[in-house]
Amino acid sequence: MEKNSLIYVAGHRGLVGSAICRSLRQQGFDRLLLRTHAELDLTDAVAVQRFFAQERPAHVFLAAAKVGGILANDLYPADFIRENLIIQTNVIDASYRAGVDRLLFLGSSCIYPKLCPQPIKEEYLLTGPLEPTNRPYALAKIAGIEMCWSYNRQFRTRYLAAMPANLYGPGDNFDPQNSHVLPALIRKVAEAKALGRKQIVVWGTGTPRRELLFSEDLAEACVFLMNLPEDVYSGLLSGVPLINIGTGQDVNIRELAEQVCAALHFKGDLIFDTTKPDGTPQKLLDITRIADLGWKPKTTLAEGINQTYEAARPQLEALPAR
Ligand SMILES: NC(=O)c1ccc[n+]([C@@H]2O[C@H](COP(=O)([O-])OP(=O)(O)OC[C@H]3O[C@@H](n4cnc5c(N)ncnc54)[C@H](OP(=O)(O)O)[C@@H]3O)[C@@H](O)[C@H]2O)c1
Repeated sequence: MEKNSLIYVAGHRGLVGSAICRSLRQQGFDRLLLRTHAELDLTDAVAVQRFFAQERPAHVFLAAAKVGGILANDLYPADFIRENLIIQTNVIDASYRAGVDRLLFLGSSCIYPKLCPQPIKEEYLLTGPLEPTNRPYALAKIAGIEMCWSYNRQFRTRYLAAMPANLYGPGDNFDPQNSHVLPALIRKVAEAKALGRKQIVVWGTGTPRRELLFSEDLAEACVFLMNLPEDVYSGLLSGVPLINIGTGQDVNIRELAEQVCAALHFKGDLIFDTTKPDGTPQKLLDITRIADLGWKPKTTLAEGINQTYEAARPQLEALPAR
């Protein structure tokens, strides 16, 4: 990417998209092309083709998607598969037609089989059954990777798919119905503190292990990948154009909850509601591929939790108690 390249960040108000914009600006990429959902609905194929034909971005970060936790995936499976398939199909195809040079498609570690060996290497894709709780979402993401690869082969595009670990960070979603594990824990602990409660209830057994990546670190990795020298970037596209982004370390949910309690200075008890689903027992990405290119994350889990909490504090303190 050149410093004066026109770069479209799809989903720039989201957790990932906003962090990518910050990282791009910090590194001197100032020509950002941005549209809110209201300005450009990415499920509208005609509007998306028109937008790309008019604006002609040189590079695209595809961070717009329908995203949610276990409950939202369970309640709205049709929305998750339909909207994600349509958004990514529209953006990838319009990028090809408008001559976009590099495109980074954001997926998720849930594309990998539920019980695959740990840590998860990129080549484990499509080697076993998926975790059922978010299968429609995962299948849409797998279709996106396959679409990048197919366009690369048929049309000589140069599109790459990045699979991040579980993310968290400033601007995270704290909705009790629709949030991921870490913001959900932060909200519960913040509420318990505000109401003087002596305990919080955590979903599941507390034993599943999760790898958590700070959104600012992910954004840096995304910009790093899109900015790789020509020969190195092309090397990533020789087979399935897929690369994991993570920390290479995981914690169990109990340890995670304890870290959140410590960060928020909450001294109450943790109660585990074992009637709620656990999801995949472990999800730890093998990050050898990106580490070999020279990238590693900077933020520790404790620092990341603190930054996420501080950024959300006004919002959390204004929430009505449930
Ligand atoms: N969060 C995670 O833990 C995580 C982990 C791994 C991978 N990822 C991946 O990272 C990407 C971004 O996730 P995120 O966490 O940043 O999600 P997010 O915070 O929900 O942001 C998604 C963005 O996409 C926009 N969007 C959704 N539907 C749209 C549409 N039809 N037209 C235009 N814009 C639309 C949303 O706008 P509105 O809010 O206005 O609808 C929002 O700004 C996703 O592909 C996800 O799979 C996320």
